Amino acid sequence: MNAASETANEFIFGPALASDAEALVSIDAGSPQPWTARAFMGELGTEPPSLFVLRSQGRAVAFVVARRQGPEMDIVNLAVAPALRRRGLGLKLLLSVIDRAASSGVETAFLEVREGNLEARALYQAVGFREFQRRSGFYRDPVEDALLLRLGMSPIDRLKAPRNAC
Ligand SMILES: CC(C)(COP(=O)(O)OP(=O)(O)OC[C@H]1O[C@@H](n2cnc3c(N)ncnc32)[C@H](O)[C@@H]1OP(=O)(O)O)[C@@H](O)C(=O)NCCC(=O)NCCS
Repeated sequence: MNAASETANEFIFGPALASDAEALVSIDAGSPQPWTARAFMGELGTEPPSLFVLRSQGRAVAFVVARRQGPEMDIVNLAVAPALRRRGLGLKLLLSVIDRAASSGVETAFLEVREGNLEARALYQAVGFREFQRRSGFYRDPVEDALLLRLGMSPIDRLKAPRNAC
């Protein structure tokens, strides 16, 4: 089966490996501030792990960087390969990292997003993230506000959140 006919269920979630670095750089290449291979490598080998991928036929096609500190988790980067967007992979990736964190006691996830990044904002909204703060003019090239979003992950919060998972 080729990638074009795969469904989200056929992509496997797991920790990234050093051999994924090149694929991750190419997935992130179109981002306003793309990460280098060195930046991705810096996330490897942490405890708990912070860099996760979705894999298809052994190749990483999406990644998320989610750093945990006690009961909180910061999602600091996330992208899906451009050719595979809008097929539920971003949703699967986010829900997978949230499930993993929630089952190890994380209670709240945070992230920050450009106001104009409507694709990412729609994804975060679908998962249940809500805006709690705005940082005016926070981003450069172009200058743009940052929206800070939060997701409650306690069992009660999660019952209330939308779960339109794949
Ligand atoms: C944001 C991103 C990760 C979404 O990944 P994706 O795999 O395309 O998202 P999904 O297919 O799982 O979409 C899930 C939901 O998010 C929303 N969404 C995603 N892309 C959207 C788009 N282009 N327009 C409108 N809504 C969108 C929709 O609600 C969608 O559900 P639906 O398809 O049932 O309508 C992807 O566009 C990406 O990699 N962007 C570049 C990197 C980036 O901006 N990262 C975020 C940094 S904060």
